[in-house]
Parts: sequence; C-alpha cells; structure tokens
Amino acid sequence: MNLGFIGTGKIASSIIFGIFKSSLKINKIYISSRNRNIAKKLSVKFKKVKTLKNNQDIINLSSVVLLSVTPSVGKKILKDLKFDKKKTIISLISTIKLNDLKKSTGVKKVCKAIPLPFVENRLGPIILSPKNKIAKRIFSKIGPVIEINNEKISFSFWSTSSIMAAYYELLNSTTKWLIKKKIKPKTATKYSSELFLSLSKDAVLKKEIGFNKLVADSQTPGGLNMQVLKELKKGKFYDKFLKSLDNVHRRIKH
Ligand SMILES: NC(=O)c1ccc[n+]([C@@H]2O[C@H](COP(=O)([O-])OP(=O)(O)OC[C@H]3O[C@@H](n4cnc5c(N)ncnc54)[C@H](OP(=O)(O)O)[C@@H]3O)[C@@H](O)[C@H]2O)c1
Repeated sequence: MNLGFIGTGKIASSIIFGIFKSSLKINKIYISSRNRNIAKKLSVKFKKVKTLKNNQDIINLSSVVLLSVTPSVGKKILKDLKFDKKKTIISLISTIKLNDLKKSTGVKKVCKAIPLPFVENRLGPIILSPKNKIAKRIFSKIGPVIEINNEKISFSFWSTSSIMAAYYELLNSTTKWLIKKKIKPKTATKYSSELFLSLSKDAVLKKEIGFNKLVADSQTPGGLNMQVLKELKKGKFYDKFLKSLDNVHRRIKH
C-alpha cells in the first residue's frame, strides 16, 4: 500500500511516526514538501518516506490519499486536483463535508478521520466516519478506532477533539502555580504530568461505574476536592466549557 499525504504538518507527521512504530505494512509514503522542515525530518528519518513537490504527483502514486491541510487550503487546492475513482481518500479536514469531498474529487471511497497528535505514540481514540475498511486497517494500528456511520454524529466528536489545548492548559496552570509556591520547575512538571496521567488512567479503569460516581467518590464531604469543584461551578467554569463545545460544534456543522 502506498500512502500519500497532501499537507505535511503536525497531524500528518504524528500519523507517520505512529505508522512506523506499528506493524502496518507500507510500501511507500509520499508527502508534500510543505511544510519543508517537517518533510525533511520525516524523509531523513524514514527510508520509505519520499517528498514530492507536486500534490498531483502524490495523488497519482498513492492508493490511499490523506488530506492533511487546513480547511481553507483544502477548499482552494482540491478543485484543481484529479483523482482516479479507485482511490481511497481519508480527509482529516474537519469542516469540508463528505458530500462536498465526493463531488469535488469524484471518488466514492471517502472517509473522514479524527486522529489526534498522540497517535504518534499509538494512542487514541480515532474517529472514522463513515466506516471504511482501508482507513480502519491503517488507523487501528495506531490507536483505538471508533467508527461512526452518521457524519452529523461525527461532528460532536470533532467538537470534543478540540479540548486538547484547554486540557494541557490545566496542566500548565497547575505547574505554574506550584512553581510560584517555590517548587522546582522539574519537580512541578513531573508532579502535574503524573497527577493528570493517573487521573486519566483511573477514569479509563473505572469507566464502567460512570463519571458521575467518579466525581462523587473523589470528594470527602466538606473536603478540599469538594471546595474546588464548588468554587469552579460557582464561577461557571463548566458552563463556559460546555458553551465552548457548543460554539465549536456550530462552526463544524456549518
Ligand atoms: N493537529 C491536530 O490535532 C489535528 C487533528 C485532527 C485533524 N486535524 C486537521 O488536519 C488538518 C491539518 O492540521 P495540522 O494541525 O496538521 O495543520 P498544519 O500543521 O498547519 O499542517 C498543514 C500543512 O499544510 C501545508 N500546506 C499549505 N498549503 C499547502 C498546499 N497548497 N499543498 C500542500 N500542503 C500545503 C502547510 O505547509 P506550510 O507550513 O509550508 O504552509 C502545513 O504543513 C487540518 O484540517 C486540521 O483540522 C488536525
């Protein structure tokens, strides 16, 4: 199988790193020379990665084409590219709809995927919509895949995939706060990352009991956890969080 990436940015690079850490059998991966630094890094590191200047050449040489450019670039370049109908297209672009992709490329085997940068270390989740055998074959090697047939429902997952920076900012704030309290940066960073890792691992292990119970079980009546949760709720922290998800969802579905 030859893969082609139109756009060699953050997510294309993460997928390629993940693929080479996996058992997926790949013949060649063609990447575009943009971004130049990332393309150079990838082609130096992996023998099977070849950089091409022309997007059309990437398409012609690949049986599976991954669209990994931003929505505005995608809209601009797709209309001038020619796709053989037998190809599979996997689009990572949130706001270009499946029907529009099919119309502008003439390809029927089109699917959208939402991998996140941690696929680089073969961590998921990865949403695929609709089901697509080839996309599943590729992505299931680099993270747990969730297949969603209904595109409208996949918009909700696109929305929740937008919490990454906000989540890391929680780690950042916790760490900065510890540093302000005279904890060494290295110790503060280690503590915050281990704390958040344990919270996430614990949530995965206890997912069957549900998050309502996890929230309840994490509070001693009148205790410190109860205090922080109460204060954040009073400050509408979670209402604002949900409002942001609504706003992102509105942006994606239009
Ligand atoms: N990052 C994520 O976590 C993530 C997750 C899922 C989906 N996505 C989606 O994946 C897409 C790419 O995201 P990203 O974060 O990887 O963005 P990015 O780092 O900005 O990558 C986009 C790449 O496209 C290149 N490009 C610009 N014009 C081009 C052209 N005409 N032909 C070929 N390549 C061109 C850019 O190169 P230059 O730097 O040279 O301009 C850049 O390297 C977006 O639609 C995003 O919504 C991202």
